[in-house]
Amino acid sequence: MNKKRVLSGVQPTGALHIGNWLGAIRNWVELQNEYETYVCVVDLHALTVPHNPEELKANTLSTAALYVACGMDPNKCSIFIQSHIPAHSELCWLLNCLTPLNWMERMIQFKEKAVKQGYNVSIGLLDYPVLMAADILLYNPDLVPVGEDQKQHLELARNIAQQRINSKFGKKDNHILKVPEPLIMKEGGKIMSLCDGKSKMSKSDPNENSRISLLDSPDIIRKKIKRAKTDQYIGLEFDNSNRPEADNLLGIYSMVTNQSREKVSKECAEMGWGKFKPLLTEAIISCLQPIQEKYTSLSKNPEELNQILINGTQQAKELSNSTLKRIRKAIGLLEQIDK
Ligand code: AMP
Ligand code: TRP
Repeated sequence: MNKKRVLSGVQPTGALHIGNWLGAIRNWVELQNEYETYVCVVDLHALTVPHNPEELKANTLSTAALYVACGMDPNKCSIFIQSHIPAHSELCWLLNCLTPLNWMERMIQFKEKAVKQGYNVSIGLLDYPVLMAADILLYNPDLVPVGEDQKQHLELARNIAQQRINSKFGKKDNHILKVPEPLIMKEGGKIMSLCDGKSKMSKSDPNENSRISLLDSPDIIRKKIKRAKTDQYIGLEFDNSNRPEADNLLGIYSMVTNQSREKVSKECAEMGWGKFKPLLTEAIISCLQPIQEKYTSLSKNPEELNQILINGTQQAKELSNSTLKRIRKAIGLLEQIDK
């Protein structure tokens, strides 16, 4: 029987943080053992906000290296850069012509980012979810593992596949595209900022202290956790809506120590912040250590990463080109004649 398939991606818009890891990448690492897995660095998405070319290049490579450092195994999955496969841009155009504008104007992330940029936004930012739908639909995945914030974008990709492609251009028993399911982890799906337990940890937060990056040194991690927002209560607990910081930090502690929520709830029920913070700090440092070691060794050998990307691109190209061909044909584009 054919394996089921998974596809996901992260934008190279800055250093990956523990939210990206606990919410998304950590799940890919598990899934690659059972699923045919494709993961890409979505550099075209990074162009939707103002960017610096040199930083984009460096971030694209370091994001790919971090996938491997976090445990993505090139023998089990395909790792590639989105812009290396032109089918993503081409399908985006085709889907643009089939997607109603008012579906896009409702996207929460667009509205939030547009406000942040003072409405000086590019068409690309509005179109971002259609490009994401193209990324996904090209690979006909069964599952797309992402954090909570991507739920609406996934729903859009499903609607495009179902209502705009399959039902308009497909045959009853012969769907053109698979309608993928989102996979959002209950724990880790939304890691909050260290400075405010009510807002999401984000790469674009101007305050560096709001997040732990996967490549932060132990000293920096110590400083950031020391400064992390607390409250006046003693004892850590989950699910108290008056204590979002306690919920978030205890959740992170549970995940980085691989212990159940029940177990850490008991362990920390009577613990003050002064005792909890050093525990959390050391747990984060030690679980990031192997990732950082692997990252450093990969950085010393750029040829290794290069070869991983060459192989991944080749595998991804084969699959995506065959989907694109099928869609082009279904919507009435004349087939190219090879000489
Ligand atoms: P991005 O940083 O926006 O490219 O997100 C990459 C992946 O990480 C996506 O699957 C996001 O849903 C996930 N992600 C981003 N921020 C968080 C967070 N604070 N908590 C959990 N998952 C997140
Ligand atoms: N929009 C996603 C994010 O910010 C990144 C992304 C782009 C993605 N294309 C994708 C995620 C395809 C999963 C599948 O996190």
